[in-house]
Amino acid sequence: MTDQQRETLRPAVVVVGASRGIGRAIANVAAREGAIVVLVARSSDGLAAAADDVKAAGGQAFTFSLDLLAADASTRLKDFLTSHGLVCDVLVNSAGYGLRGPATTLPTADQLGMVDLNIRALTDMTLQFLPEMVARGHGGVLNLGSIAGFTPGPNMALYYASKAFVRSFSEALHQEVKATGVTVTCVAPGPVATEFLERSGAGRAALFKILPKLSSDYVAERAWRGFKSGRRLVVPGLSAKLVALVASSLPSAVKVPLIGRLQRRSRDLCPCGSGKPFKECCGSRQARRAGV
Ligand SMILES: NC(=O)c1ccc[n+]([C@@H]2O[C@H](COP(=O)([O-])OP(=O)(O)OC[C@H]3O[C@@H](n4cnc5c(N)ncnc54)[C@H](OP(=O)(O)O)[C@@H]3O)[C@@H](O)[C@H]2O)c1
Repeated sequence: MTDQQRETLRPAVVVVGASRGIGRAIANVAAREGAIVVLVARSSDGLAAAADDVKAAGGQAFTFSLDLLAADASTRLKDFLTSHGLVCDVLVNSAGYGLRGPATTLPTADQLGMVDLNIRALTDMTLQFLPEMVARGHGGVLNLGSIAGFTPGPNMALYYASKAFVRSFSEALHQEVKATGVTVTCVAPGPVATEFLERSGAGRAALFKILPKLSSDYVAERAWRGFKSGRRLVVPGLSAKLVALVASSLPSAVKVPLIGRLQRRSRDLCPCGSGKPFKECCGSRQARRAGV
């Protein structure tokens, strides 16, 4: 592509994970500013509905059905943008999933899939588009972390670890590129009322029942505003801020067992692999008395 062709590309807000939930809500916030929004996810129906919302909010919408677990996902997205005369000015990485339960009892393939989506795909997208933003001296990346990124989380171990990665990676990138006029922001919400809670099983754990659930619209507004003002980290809502503060200050010896208990359910299988519920196995009164 020649320099002249490159200059004619129109800047777009690319939302990855836009067919529902927080990503879809962020797409609407950007659309209200009249943005060209590229909506990316697997479900064509979800994307079509999200595109209708974007147009109704005053934006221009493009949809691209893509499985982020494909090895060439970021290249295909880049090709899609170029073929439509677009360049990624803002990248929103909102695709992600969680799994609740002891890591030794959850299917390994599902857990590796989560690492692939929450970590590898987010990194791939970021590294595909961030260098051109830096070269243009404009735009940025908004990554969806979580308050789970502030602490280890037994019974959702890999999800918490994946969000710790997102926070660490994003905050470090923010520092690296901020002098170039580009922003990298990590948004770290507490529970948000989306399908995520049901799909991950997190919504049935005591911890997520105790914490108030924010709406995806509220989280999207805060995330977008924080990103636009060049923030490194956005934790939307007072309860999430308090949890992040407590999680960052309590010693692991106190917080990790507490989170483990609050995320365990009585019917969870025992991590020892017996196939029995934890309460009737290593978590039984007799086992605890015997010091197992
Ligand atoms: N909801 C919460 O309580 C909460 C709290 C803190 C952080 N977060 C984080 O916020 C982000 C968004 O969560 P959400 O609540 O909006 O979840 P959600 O409602 O389940 O939406 C997830 C989005 O990711 C897309 N996606 C999933 N797998 C994909 C794949 N292989 N390829 C392409 N797209 C894929 C889904 O679209 P398709 O299925 O159509 O592909 C959907 O658009 C996640 O990273 C999550 O960890 C959520």
